[in-house]
Amino acid sequence: MSSNEKNNDHLLQAPRGTRDFVGDTYDRKADFYRQAEAIARGYGFTGIETPVFEHTEIFTKGVGEGTDIVDKEMYNFTTAGGDRLTLRPEGTAAVMRAYIEHGMGSMPQPLYLYYTGPFFRHEKPQKGRYRQLYQFGLEVMGGKNPMYDILTIKTGYNILKTSGREISVQVNTLGSVSERQNYLEILKKFYQEHQSQLAESDQYRIETNPLRILDSKEPSTKTINEKAPLLQDQLGEASKAYFDAVTKGLEDLGIPYEVVPSLVRGLDYYEHTVFEYVTKDEQGANSLALGGGGRYDGLAEMIGHKESVPAVGLGLGVDRILEVAHDDAYLDTSRKKVSIIAIGDKVIGEAIKIAGIVAGSGCEVLMQATD
Ligand code: HAM
Repeated sequence: MSSNEKNNDHLLQAPRGTRDFVGDTYDRKADFYRQAEAIARGYGFTGIETPVFEHTEIFTKGVGEGTDIVDKEMYNFTTAGGDRLTLRPEGTAAVMRAYIEHGMGSMPQPLYLYYTGPFFRHEKPQKGRYRQLYQFGLEVMGGKNPMYDILTIKTGYNILKTSGREISVQVNTLGSVSERQNYLEILKKFYQEHQSQLAESDQYRIETNPLRILDSKEPSTKTINEKAPLLQDQLGEASKAYFDAVTKGLEDLGIPYEVVPSLVRGLDYYEHTVFEYVTKDEQGANSLALGGGGRYDGLAEMIGHKESVPAVGLGLGVDRILEVAHDDAYLDTSRKKVSIIAIGDKVIGEAIKIAGIVAGSGCEVLMQATD
């Protein structure tokens, strides 16, 4: 085979980590969105759509230098005019940019917003990890009360239950920014003392993002982590009370949850509540996170706003939800399918008229001509 032909083979495949949705896979994704939107709207959320690219700094400042997303996974490009832009790796920083740009802070608070669509992360493709991934996101902006955290977790839980799977929530608190800052200093010191025992890939994080070392999957780091100081011991009364209110709310609602002190999430804008949703696979092990979120009261200031905007939200991983969902969860079989065959050119007009009447009655028409 000539190298030209080889090149063409590669051209005719979707780029690594991306895929086409067609037939059932298209319909299932559309049906998931339909059900998720209906649930979100039921809780008062309204839709927002932001561009698929933003100024790079929205993410470097919002998601944070030192995170995997910003350091390794962003699709950055510079336009002919010199603008530095990035294909959005996540939605929260972009929705906050829109909230500030449109002065939504002067509207009745909080705003309940949802969004859907593709996001882009240059990750190593594998099951449940795509470079073009899809999320269904919720953001409650302009409200600081545990009720908003509980309501966000509950809405996401209800959406995930449409998959037909048992869902549980892992939850943790990161405390306030100053408590976290204090804790980070203690943690840095601890890791500096044990630097040589950490996995090499974790050592460089001591300075950039020591919190991420806590949820490392490396065996040598995991051993050290068993002795690591806990954030919980640095929390003040107000932070503890806030977190207690959130967990009590989950309990009152009967949502299965577990407090996981090592849960820190991979984005810098969080404080106080953080959470992830998981389901068990056939072997009883927890799946990759089906979604996650948390409170991010400092994000508005991180991206350049003069005031803080208390907010909480989540992102659900649509690709992963479709992978674990029961076969019939997202297939709408309620619409009858009707086949109409036009036999001979003379009846084409009549057949299309009949198709219009049948389609108008709520059926799906499939037309064929005999040629
Ligand atoms: P995240 O945890 O980075 O949070 O992503 C949310 C979900 O998207 C993950 O739990 C996972 O299900 C899915 N996901 C992430 N990366 C991939 C991938 N490469 N392939 C397939 N699925 C993936 C956020 O993005 C935050 N913006 C969530 C949020 C909203 N926090 C507050 N508001």
